[in-house]
Amino acid sequence: MAASGCFGYGVEYADVVDLSSLGAVVTKGLFLNAREGHPAPRIVETPAGMLNAIGLQGIGARRFVDEKLPELRARRATVIVNVCGTTIDEYVEVSRILSDAEGVAAIELNISCPNIKEGGIQFGCSLPGTAAVVSAVRKVTRLPIMPKLTPNVTDVASFARAAEDAGADAVSLVNTFLAMVIDVESRRPKISNVVGGLSGPAIRPIAVRMVHECRQAVKIPIVGMGGIANARDVLEFMIAGANAVQVGTANFVDPFIWSKLLDGIGDYLERHQIARVADLVGTVETRQAAHEPM
Ligand SMILES: Cc1cc2nc3c(=O)[nH]c(=O)nc-3n(C[C@H](O)[C@H](O)[C@H](O)COP(=O)(O)O)c2cc1C
Repeated sequence: MAASGCFGYGVEYADVVDLSSLGAVVTKGLFLNAREGHPAPRIVETPAGMLNAIGLQGIGARRFVDEKLPELRARRATVIVNVCGTTIDEYVEVSRILSDAEGVAAIELNISCPNIKEGGIQFGCSLPGTAAVVSAVRKVTRLPIMPKLTPNVTDVASFARAAEDAGADAVSLVNTFLAMVIDVESRRPKISNVVGGLSGPAIRPIAVRMVHECRQAVKIPIVGMGGIANARDVLEFMIAGANAVQVGTANFVDPFIWSKLLDGIGDYLERHQIARVADLVGTVETRQAAHEPM
């Protein structure tokens, strides 16, 4: 799947990728109304990654349904909408609008954006907040609900469990890591919001560890992400316990990455004589190998 915020509303990439060939297009986060986002500079490159503080710029749920969804449907894309809110009522209202629209496959609840001061991250950093958003949205939609977890907590597995107990159909993780970059000459932060979210290969080993922990905590499907840049990375997440994956930052590096990922997974399955990629999920062997005495 194309990760939220790294693939626009999907339609922008329709001439580059066959949208129907992706597991899903996950849209940029949507509030009820349009948002401007933060002033530039909003992104900066970091070692093996990037920092962003876009501030959830977006066109709002109704305009998305009217202006973007018809083309996504025409292109036979599987559409997952990343839903944001500053209050529980807003998450509910946006989810209701999307449930009434034709062509939305699932809702990814963004309770984990580090770049807005209200809403989002507060819900995702508190167990009762996580449960409250999920159970409120559960009451108003039959669409599958997938809360997106923040890595900016000590025990991510307890958040996956809270989401599952509140009625989530899946969880996705991770969102970006709260981080900061300073220009030492000017002594100013390199992005206007001062702090932002770190993504890309730099975060991958932490994200893999978190998926592994969540796999042991919940039974619902896990969608893993964080720094995937090639087929090996996809396989690593799946072996750790992800049922599916999303790719974000790597799409900025190589918008043609999608077919390379699929080809690489195919080669691996053939080489290891594995019939279905699903057979790999959670197969990491963590028992210590017996060591011969030296
Ligand atoms: C520029 C940018 C914008 C993002 N916008 C969103 C967003 O709107 N909603 C969201 O849930 N995650 C957003 N994310 C987080 C990504 O979806 C993803 O969780 C994160 O970047 C880790 O994956 P990656 O290392 O493959 O990019 C954004 C990430 C980037 C780099």
